[in-house]
This record gives sequence, C-alpha cells and structure tokens, in this order.
Amino acid sequence: MKLWGGRFTKPTNQLVDEYASSIHFDKKLAKHDITGSLAHVRMLKKCGIVPDSDADKIVEGLQTVAAKIEKGEAELSEEHEDIHMNVEKLLIDEVGPVGGKLHTGRSRNDQVALDMRLYLREVVLELIQLLTDVQKSVHKQAEANLDTILPGYTHLQRAQPVLFAHHMLAYLFMFQRDVERLTDSLKRINKMPLGAGALAGTTFPIDREYVAEELQFDGICENSLDAVSDRDFVVEFLSDASIIAMHLSRLCEEMVQWSSAEFNFIELDDAFCTGSSMMPQKKNPDVAELVRGKTGRVYGNLTGMLTTLKGLPLAYNKDMQEDKEGMFDTAETLRGALALFAPMIETMHVKKTEMYEAVRQDYSNATDLADYLTDKGMTFRESHEAVGNIVLHCLNQKKYLLDLSLDEFRSFSNVIEEDIFEALSPEAVVNARQAPGGTAKQSVKEQLENAAGLLKKNDAWCEENSI
Ligand code: ARG
Repeated sequence: MKLWGGRFTKPTNQLVDEYASSIHFDKKLAKHDITGSLAHVRMLKKCGIVPDSDADKIVEGLQTVAAKIEKGEAELSEEHEDIHMNVEKLLIDEVGPVGGKLHTGRSRNDQVALDMRLYLREVVLELIQLLTDVQKSVHKQAEANLDTILPGYTHLQRAQPVLFAHHMLAYLFMFQRDVERLTDSLKRINKMPLGAGALAGTTFPIDREYVAEELQFDGICENSLDAVSDRDFVVEFLSDASIIAMHLSRLCEEMVQWSSAEFNFIELDDAFCTGSSMMPQKKNPDVAELVRGKTGRVYGNLTGMLTTLKGLPLAYNKDMQEDKEGMFDTAETLRGALALFAPMIETMHVKKTEMYEAVRQDYSNATDLADYLTDKGMTFRESHEAVGNIVLHCLNQKKYLLDLSLDEFRSFSNVIEEDIFEALSPEAVVNARQAPGGTAKQSVKEQLENAAGLLKKNDAWCEENSI
C-alpha cells in the first residue's frame, strides 16, 4: 500500500512504478534525507507540534534506519517510489505508526530541495579541495620549470617562446577562478527550503530558522513557491562544473599533443597511461583523453537540466525529478577527473632539452628582431616588413635567424649590430617580456608567489568550511 494511497481505488500500474520511481538513483541522498528529517523532527518537538516522547522515538528510529541503509541492510523498494517515502516507510516499520508524525508540516517538494542542497554543499566543498590539490601539483611543475623554455603557440603555430612555468601557471589561474565560482555559488546553495511545504507554506507553527541553524545553512529561502521550484543552484553547479571540465579538457588536449612523438615535450608517467591490445610499442595517454572526452557528458548534463526547466510553470512539477542523475553524474565525473589530475601532473616528466630545441628550430624570435629594429628607429610597420623579408630569406636558405651572419643581417638593414645574436637568444627573448603578467623569469616568479598565496587562501578556506 502506498503512503499516499488513501484516495486511490486501485494500485499503480507496475510499469508506472518502474517508470516513475527514482529510488534507484536518489538513494544517493539517503544520508542527506535523514539528516534533514532529524533536524525537522527536532524542530517539531521544540515547537510543541509533536510530543517530546514521540519525537524522541522518531529520532532514534531515523538513526536506526540510517545505520541499516549504510550497512545495506534496508530494503529500498520501487513501490515506495523515492528515497523520501522509502525512509518514511522504513521508519514506520521501525517505530510503528508514530513514525507517521515525521512528515507533519512538510512535503516531499521542500524535502527534495533540501536534500539536494545538502548534497551539493558537500560536493562543492570537496571539489574546491580537489581543485586546490590540482593547483598545487601545477604549482610544483611551474616551480621546477622556471628555466624551461618552450615555444608558445597561436593558431597551433609556433609564435613566441615562453617559460613552461608561465604556461603551467596559466592553468593555475583558470582553476583559481573555478574555485572562486564554486565558493561564490555556496551563497545561493546554502539556503534552507524546508517549511515551504508543497508550495504555499504550512499551517503549523514551525521554526524555519531553527532548522536552518541545525543544518548550518546561512538562512532560509524567502518565498515558498521559489523554494520548491528553484533549481537554479543545480544549473549553476552544472555550469561551474562545465567550465571546470572545459579547463581540464584544454590541459588534457595539450598533454595528449605534448606526449606525441611529433611534439615530444613531455612523458606521462606509466601509472597514468595504458597500452594497446595489439601494438606492443604503444603507450597511450588514456586518462587525459578520457577526461577530455567526459567533458561531453558534463556539458550534456547542463544542457539537459536547462532544457528540463525551461517552460515549467510554478511550482513543483514531476519533470523536476530529472534534476538528480545529471547532478550526480557531473559530481562523480569531476571528482574522478580531479583526483587523477593532481598525481598525473605531478609525475609528468618535462623534456626540457626537447622543448628548448623546438624553440631554437623556429622563428619565434622574429617579433624580437622587429622590436630590435623598432628600437633603432624604424617604425614597427617598417620593421615588420623587413623581418618578413629576412624570414623569407631564411626559409629559402633553410636557416633560422640565429644561423645568419652579421653581414647577412646587415644586407637587410644596416642598423643591425653584433648585439643582435644575444638579443635573439631564447633566454633574452623570454626575459625581455618583463611587464607584469609577461613570461620573463622575474615576472613568472612573481606569479608563482601570488599563486602560492592563493593556494594558502584556498587551504584556509577549506579548513574553515569543512563539514
Ligand atoms: N522524487 C521526487 C523528486 O525528486 C520528490 C518530490 C515528489 N513530489 C511529488 N509531489 N510528487 O522530484
């Protein structure tokens, strides 16, 4: 018999039970559901809505149910549709009809909103910690590569040399914005919806603030219709997650490229690669590829949620049950990716010599030659033209700029002097970019220090906000 069976004259079609029940996925919310129910019943007791002795029995019963679910001893059934009604049914089995008092002044509509907020709050804190760990391994690689020069690219064509530390730090700052977005989202996630009832509030003299405090929320949702209809916080999480996945995916793409024979810039540790069933020589960057690939499902979950919500009238609609699987999937996908990422980056072998060779064998110091000519009085446009001609000459001669003799240089412009060779060396080219944010070693050192400060701040935040 269904807990809501009173007004029905026949049982639900079995196909409906199968189709509409959510227990096979929302059982993940069991812990949060019971945490919420414990706070709710304590409030009912405090407000004198449920007698003390009944409330105490319910508390004890809920704790037993929690332990049984945790140990896998509780039977969760499709007949009881979702985690909320399964828990209530288990409670009533445990403590008898008094368990039926738990749902006083509450609806599954505000209950499910509460469970999801409790769940996401935990996930967001965990992801912030995991992101910080990734940032730490990126920071270590940056520190170890303050003298490693590689070609920087635009259009995937060698453009100007940069320090590998600089390149790594670019990702660290992206991940910092991800951390900040997640931190900020907590302001909106951490609001307590219980008390909204099904949609209009409740006739019982409840104390919402008390429940909010018990559950460490920052405050209550102010409007009951909004409280049960709002899934913005899920959409926001999914979009923050999509940005994180996009950042990870870009770094993955670089790792895949860099570890190819064509680039030969890094070697990923054996522990983070796999082999081929057929080709004995293969070592594939599977983890990086898979993280890149899973970006698709993370984006898909965002698009799915936005589409489900679009056009839904207030307040609760069953469509909203579709809010959970994508959220769980995204949380688990990111958790897995981030946990792998930190050690994968930390153990990545950086091929400094090969990177340096790639810089020497290209024209990525051409801008510096143009800057040199500009310094000597030519307009930048004239310099650009002259250097274009020099590069063309080099290409015809199969030479790089540093292979030219002074006479060859001077045949293009007599303002060029002996100091050109020093000015075009990879180190000089890198270190000439001293303005803040540039790739000069001094500037990158400053970035490293600032980044270390951010990591400390993140750690302190995590410590303060752990639950
Ligand atoms: N399982 C439902 C969900 O996740 C819980 C809320 C159901 N409320 C209702 N009135 N059918 O959306």
